[in-house]
Amino acid sequence: MQFSYSNPTRLHFGQGQIKTIAQEIPLDSNVLVIYGGGSIKKNGVYDQVADALKEHTWKEFSGVEPNPTKETLDKAITMAKEHNINFILAVGGGSVIDGSKFVAAAACYEGESWDIMVGKHTVTTAVPIGAILTLPATGSESNSGAVITKRETNDKLPFGSKAVQPLFAVLDPDVMKTLPERQLINGVVDAWVHTCEQYLTTPTSAKVQEGYAETLLRTLLDLGNRYDSRDSDEWRANLMWSANQALNGLIGTGVPQDWATHMIGHEFTALWQVDHGRSLAIVQPWLLRNQMDVKRAKLEQMGRNVFGLEAGDDLAERTIQAIEAFYHGLNVATQFGEHGMTHSEAVDTVVNQLDKHGMTALGENKAITLKQSREILEKALV
Ligand code: NZQ
Ligand code: ZN
Repeated sequence: MQFSYSNPTRLHFGQGQIKTIAQEIPLDSNVLVIYGGGSIKKNGVYDQVADALKEHTWKEFSGVEPNPTKETLDKAITMAKEHNINFILAVGGGSVIDGSKFVAAAACYEGESWDIMVGKHTVTTAVPIGAILTLPATGSESNSGAVITKRETNDKLPFGSKAVQPLFAVLDPDVMKTLPERQLINGVVDAWVHTCEQYLTTPTSAKVQEGYAETLLRTLLDLGNRYDSRDSDEWRANLMWSANQALNGLIGTGVPQDWATHMIGHEFTALWQVDHGRSLAIVQPWLLRNQMDVKRAKLEQMGRNVFGLEAGDDLAERTIQAIEAFYHGLNVATQFGEHGMTHSEAVDTVVNQLDKHGMTALGENKAITLKQSREILEKALV
């Protein structure tokens, strides 16, 4: 273990916390409030924001879509530049927060926004951001990453910079009450896979990171198994906090990280609009089997410490089956067939996308080359 660690996002967690934005955003700011397709207008969140910002000067940009596109966000970038915006408030799920990070970075750059995604521009400055989270899943509210899509070419790529990490985030579990079931389940799965990406590698001596990752996994497993209790303050608060803690940097500090499931999953979303969480459930079990030899010890540890499975030669495989059963229990599929192509065309299409995006040496050992990805896709696609 050797690292520098800081998570500078101030969190305001709990009911009624949206009003804290009045103090968090300097009164003399020119604020741009960015949101999505309008869920916040129906559930009272927009009204709470408007009330809290009644003394502030602010404009709004709506219409950021799930899996936010450069094409839409470019309009917000133009607006931010024209109106000298110097504070961005993102109100929504991962897509709105990620989109706001892209806008915040591109508003301080004179070149083409997509340069940020292809490494032509390294982001070192951005408009300051705050976030009001409405969908617990991605952890974007207190991390420095974002994933943006270029619709024109079906490219879905990540970027990261400390400059776009929100200064503060509001996590009020009450806002989850209007979430469609589909999105709630996506959140459980995404947070689960985030934890796995930073845990299911090789055994380490980092007791704190491993122990906390197991706590998060047991919590998410319990929430999934008690899905019938989802309409309760306790259930909502535990999901919101787990999803945040799963990707705020802590459990990944000083340990190997995988992320191959995410990189392959992103191609499913770019090509076929598969929801982010669902793309992960399709890829992960097959990837774990493909990498069984190097991941065996950690899969066995997860089997014992998360699922409470008995020892045995087939423990790693039984752990993967338990993960699949967890997804199936939430009605989440672990294979995908709605691509409208033949099986071999679909496999080739994803492999070509991975190649185009430079995703040719994935995972903690950089051992998932296009050959391994192809083997994984042969199983994940039907
Ligand atoms: O647009 P609105 O009308 O707000 O509706 C949204 C959207 O249709 C709706 N919704 C959100 N909060 C709601 C609500 N509906 C009713 N009540 C509420 N309280 O939910 C739909 C999906 O929202 P979205 O933001 O797309 O979902 P999610 O939070 O799962 O974000 C997914 C995006 O985040 C990226 C994914 O790739 C994907 O683009 N990720 C970002 C990460 C990060 N920054 O660290 C890591 C993740 O691995 C992930 O890749
Ligand atoms: Zn994710």
